[in-house]
Amino acid sequence: MQAPDKAKPVRRLHPCLRMGYRHPTMTAPQPIPPATGKLGVLTPGMGAVATTFYAGVLAARKGYARPFGSLTQMGHIRLGKRTEGRNPLIKDFVPLARLEDLEFGGWDAYSDDAYTAAMKAGVLDPRHIEGIGDELRSIVPMKAVFSHRWVKNLPDVDNLKDEGGTHMDKAEALMEDIDRFRTEKQVDRLVAVWCGSTEAYEEPQAVHMDLDAFEAGLKNNDPNIAPSQVYAYALLKMGVPFANGAPNLSVDIPAMEQLAVEQGVPIAGKDFKTGQTLMKTIISPGLKARMLGINGWFSTNILGNRDGEVLDDPESFRSKEVSKLGVLETILQPDLYPDLYGDLHHVVRINYYPPKGDDKEGWDHIDVFGWLGYQMQIKVDFLCKDSILAAPIVLDLALFMDLAARAGRSGIQEWLSFYFKSPHTAPGLQPEHDLFVQQAKLLNNLRHMMGEDLITHLGVEYYEEY
Ligand SMILES: NC(=O)c1ccc[n+]([C@@H]2O[C@H](COP(=O)([O-])OP(=O)(O)OC[C@H]3O[C@@H](n4cnc5c(N)ncnc54)[C@H](O)[C@@H]3O)[C@@H](O)[C@H]2O)c1
Repeated sequence: MQAPDKAKPVRRLHPCLRMGYRHPTMTAPQPIPPATGKLGVLTPGMGAVATTFYAGVLAARKGYARPFGSLTQMGHIRLGKRTEGRNPLIKDFVPLARLEDLEFGGWDAYSDDAYTAAMKAGVLDPRHIEGIGDELRSIVPMKAVFSHRWVKNLPDVDNLKDEGGTHMDKAEALMEDIDRFRTEKQVDRLVAVWCGSTEAYEEPQAVHMDLDAFEAGLKNNDPNIAPSQVYAYALLKMGVPFANGAPNLSVDIPAMEQLAVEQGVPIAGKDFKTGQTLMKTIISPGLKARMLGINGWFSTNILGNRDGEVLDDPESFRSKEVSKLGVLETILQPDLYPDLYGDLHHVVRINYYPPKGDDKEGWDHIDVFGWLGYQMQIKVDFLCKDSILAAPIVLDLALFMDLAARAGRSGIQEWLSFYFKSPHTAPGLQPEHDLFVQQAKLLNNLRHMMGEDLITHLGVEYYEEY
C-alpha cells in the first residue's frame, strides 16, 4: 500500500462555500418597495406600554433621547464573511419606515389622551414628557370595543362604543375608525400592535376554527369571541398587519390565520418578551448548552401598574401563566434530556403590589446541578421597568411588520419570535424560545429578504485545511 503524500496537503473546498451558501429551497427574493410616505401605527390599548412607546419615538425624533433597546434603530447586521467587514445598521440595510414618518393612533376604554394616560401610568418622569406634551395630547383614543366579561379589573371605563349591536357591527365601526384615521392623517400604510389589557384565558372553540364559523359568530354575538379578536378581524379585513403583545388569543386561531393569508397580511404574536421571561430565555439556553441540570425554577414578581391590577384577576393571570410556563419546557426538552430536566419544578407567580408601580421586581431562584449531581443555586433579582423594556419592542414590531408586508409576506411571521414569550408558529410546529436562535432566525430572514447569503457560522472557510 502506498503511504499518503504528506508533502501535499489535500485542499477540499466544500461546494457550498465555493458557490456561496444558499438554502436549496429558497427562491430569489423580490425587490422590496421603499418605505415612502407615512406609516400609521395603531395600538388597541393606550396604557403604560403604548404611551411609553409614543413618547420614546417622539423624544428620539426631537433628539431628546436615544432609542436604546430597539434592534431596528441601534442594531447592526453582519453580511458576508467576517473578513469582509460589512456590518451596516439594520435600518440602513433593509428599507424601514423612519421614525419621522410614524403617525400614532389607538383605541382605549378610557378617554384620556396619550399625555394624560402617560402621566397616570407614571412610567416616565414628567420632565421627560413636557417637551413632547403637545404631540402626546393630540393622540386621542378612539372608542373601544370592550367587555368586562374579558377584562374584569378595569373600573369606570368611559370610552366605549355603543354596547348594543352585534360583534360584526362593532367590527364595522372599527373599520370606519381605521378608514377615518387613514384619511385624516394621510398615512400611506398602517400596522397595528395590540397593547390592550390581557383578556381572560380561553382555549380555542368551534367558532375560532374557520373563517365562516367566525364570521357567523360575529353576526350572532358568539360569547366566545373576545374584543381583541373583533379588533384583529377588523384590522386584517382592512389589510392592516397585526401583532399581539398580550398573552390572550387574538390572531393565533385558525380563522384569523386563514383571513391573514386570504388578505395577504402578516400576523405575529404573542405576549411581549420582557422582564423575567427575557432573562429565562437568556439563562436557560446557556445552562443547557453546558449540560447542567435544573430541578427547580421558582419565579415570582411584584408589580403595581394597571397591568398588574388586571393580572390580579385569576382568569387574566391564567393567560399570562400559560404563556410564561411553556418557555422552559421547549428550551430544555425534558423528553430528550430526562436526566437533566425530567424532574423540573417550574412555578410562576405574579403579585399585584401597588407601591411598586411600573417598577416590577422579578426574583428567580434556580436549583442547578452539575458534575456528580452536586447542587448549586442561581438567584436573579431583576429590578426592571416593564414598559421601558416593552416600548422598543412595539417600535421594532411596527417597523418589521410593515417591512414584511412590503416584502409580500403574509400569515404567521415566525421570524419575529424574538419579541414574544409565546411565539406564534404554523400549526404543529414547536416554537423556538432560545433568544439567540430567535435572533439568528430574525437576522437570516433580513439577509434573505435582501438577497444576501445566510450566515451559518460554519467558519471553515477561514482555514486553509479542514
Ligand atoms: N410591559 C410589559 O413588559 C409587558 C410584557 C408583556 C406583555 N404585556 C402586555 O401588554 C399589554 C399592555 O400592558 P400595559 O402595561 O400598557 O397595560 P395598561 O393596563 O397600562 O394598558 C392597557 C390599556 O388597554 C386598555 N384596554 C383594555 N381592553 C381594551 C379594549 N378592548 N380596547 C381598547 N383598550 C383596551 C386599558 O384601558 C388600558 O388603558 C398588557 O396586556 C400586558 O400584559 C406587557
